[in-house]
Amino acid sequence: MGKLAINGGGKLLSEGYMEWPIVTEKEKKAVMDVLESRIFWGAYAPNAKALQKEWADYVGTEYCLCTGSGTSALHIAVAGAGIGPGDEVITSALTFVASSHAIMQQNAIPVFVDIESVTYNIDPKKIREKITKNTKAIIPVHLHGTPCDMDEIMEIAKEYGLIVIEDACQAHGASYKKRKTGSVGDMAAFSLNGSKNLSGGEGGLFNTSNEEFFRKARTVRDLGEVIEEGVERDYNAFEIGWMYRYTELNAAFTRVRLESLDEENALRIKNAEYLTEKLKKIKGVIPPSVPEDRESVFHLYRIRFDPSQLGLNISPKEFRAKVQMALRAEGFQANRWQNRPVPMQTLFQDKKGYGNGCPWACPFGNAKGIFYKAEDYTETKKVVDDSIVLHSYIYPPNGIGLMDCFAAGIKKLWDNLDEMLAIKLDPASIYTRD
Ligand SMILES: Cc1ncc(COP(=O)(O)O)c(C=O)c1O
Repeated sequence: MGKLAINGGGKLLSEGYMEWPIVTEKEKKAVMDVLESRIFWGAYAPNAKALQKEWADYVGTEYCLCTGSGTSALHIAVAGAGIGPGDEVITSALTFVASSHAIMQQNAIPVFVDIESVTYNIDPKKIREKITKNTKAIIPVHLHGTPCDMDEIMEIAKEYGLIVIEDACQAHGASYKKRKTGSVGDMAAFSLNGSKNLSGGEGGLFNTSNEEFFRKARTVRDLGEVIEEGVERDYNAFEIGWMYRYTELNAAFTRVRLESLDEENALRIKNAEYLTEKLKKIKGVIPPSVPEDRESVFHLYRIRFDPSQLGLNISPKEFRAKVQMALRAEGFQANRWQNRPVPMQTLFQDKKGYGNGCPWACPFGNAKGIFYKAEDYTETKKVVDDSIVLHSYIYPPNGIGLMDCFAAGIKKLWDNLDEMLAIKLDPASIYTRD
């Protein structure tokens, strides 16, 4: 029997940690009130309407629309920008695939840019080389709650006349130079799925201060009709649209969750900063770092590992896989979030698209020559290979004691390196395909 839990030793974290999200009596009452009211749906139902106003005020934009998901909020932004067949839109190689689906749903072509190594966000220095005459927009993704370098991105957008849509699906309440994410670009989208800092179960929020974008996005959200509050419905669709309205039960739930967002973000930040101070002192461990001009809300806390700092001759990917298995056995959260750069997913390698090769084969564009090559995303590849993420573990009500315990967990593995290095890897855990 070894010392590590994976080899039968004592488990370090036996009582576990609380899983996100939090549900209190207040959320239950809000949902029950909707049931009592029997108003469940509608573009102007009271909770949906109130949530839109409250979120527009919170972010600092003129307008907000709630939608059924973050993906649909992104899609109405892309459609609202007038993007269509043959257009190209730039986004990050390290994101959730939804950022690019929103582009392809308009029969437009996603063009991926590698990340920079501090924030793991799109590298602004690599954007210009991907711009062509077909490029219409940039979708920077504020990954894991850390804002992108928005000044640089807005500067490039201005130079080339591009629209900026912030994918803030992971960044509720984060700020860049004191401005809330979602208020810097032309439009923005947030996700409300159950994992998010602001959760409504499922759902999405679209923000803009541009009236034209707002009207266009609202039209496509409502099946291409123009539905105004208090005006008799005309049942006349002006264009192709979707049914992306939000539900009252979820809107009521989200509104209560919003009341605690700042307080809960502050606790996340406290946990994350405390853990970072601890992990910084351990050789071979690279905790996240946040540039001084922005505030992260740590939707995810990504930890990289560098075995060369420990004098070990093992690939970072294999080392990470062993650390991950050993940490899980000790009772800790140790997840992966994305196993490869998004453009290396089968969808982009096969390019079958809608079945006949669209959007790439679309005759309106010039994208047949666009291929997604591994050598364009080397930084992303390194990060997804050598890192794990923590989620609920750093979320409230979990506190500092658990952060100490996690650091102690890493120390335990480092003190028993021989045992850890001898862990046999399940080939599936290191995803050899990519
Ligand atoms: C960066 C990013 N973009 C878009 C989305 C899509 O949001 P949803 O799952 O609400 O559709 C997510 C959700 O996980 C995300 O993390």
